[in-house]
Amino acid sequence: MVNHVEEPTPAVTKAVVPAAGLGTRFLPATKATPKEMLPVVDKPAIQYVVEEAVGAGLDDVLLITGRSKRSIEDHFDRAYELEEALAAKEDWGKLDQVRKSSELSTMHYVRQTDPRGLGHAVLCAARHVGHEPFAVLLGDDLIEPGDPLLARMIEVRQRFGGSVVALMEVPPAEVSLYGCAAVEATSEDDVALITDLVEKPAREVAPSRWAVIGRYVCDPSVFDVLRDTPPGRGGEIQLTDALKELAGKGEVRGVLFRGRRYDTGNKQEYLRTMVEFAAKREDLAAEFIPWLRTFLRQLPET
Ligand code: UTP
Repeated sequence: MVNHVEEPTPAVTKAVVPAAGLGTRFLPATKATPKEMLPVVDKPAIQYVVEEAVGAGLDDVLLITGRSKRSIEDHFDRAYELEEALAAKEDWGKLDQVRKSSELSTMHYVRQTDPRGLGHAVLCAARHVGHEPFAVLLGDDLIEPGDPLLARMIEVRQRFGGSVVALMEVPPAEVSLYGCAAVEATSEDDVALITDLVEKPAREVAPSRWAVIGRYVCDPSVFDVLRDTPPGRGGEIQLTDALKELAGKGEVRGVLFRGRRYDTGNKQEYLRTMVEFAAKREDLAAEFIPWLRTFLRQLPET
């Protein structure tokens, strides 16, 4: 009799952060600057995302960059002249902040020369990732700092294998903005089995109100599927389409996220994010909140 020994699932150690989109919703700001570099208070959005990956124990971060990649690479690199100037002024606080972004993690870069969609951006990570499971964090999507969403998704992957997406319940009018999942309950309150995925469905045909938000833990088998995935909605190679195929085999689960998520690639959400983050900052709130209250009182009713 052969003893069946289960292969341990390899640990998730790599994060892939796609940041090569055109960011057309934010033009003209994004003409020469990636939208992921737009600041939320005083840090670019993508730094919060990299900090989240590092916080979840991922110590190898691959950024998928595009046309205007330099500002991203510079941001996560040492800035010797600036550091010397701050040291000469004995401005240790700012020096710490400047150094922090270059010491966060081992950063790697790969270029997506043609922005052919999120699925294509993820496929650009195949050589770096190899045969391990990996996390994908969209560079313009922020999760409340300190929320354990990604750690939970990694735990679900370790337990069940396959791929895991983050799902958030959205109002019916908004399902057409997201990838949308057909789900079945599991024995875990916050985990669903995904039976189908549809990219940006019309409200009438959406399988549920569970929208896929910008966090994924993918099995490396997604690369083989992506290689054969034709351009879908918007002429782009969609990650959702590849995950749909894996969902058809029962290999995709969703973690139901009930926390706060901020889409900084959209102007309305960007403005709200900036106000919320500023209002929560100890160094800014005491002055900012009273000003905001007065400002709102002065606004004419609409
Ligand atoms: P979005 O669809 O929000 O990005 O992609 P976009 O196309 O840049 O935005 P708009 O609609 O024109 O304003 C989600 C994430 O996937 C990345 C984006 O940078 C963003 O982080 N992405 C998208 C790529 O890296 N490559 C692509 O080809 C497309």
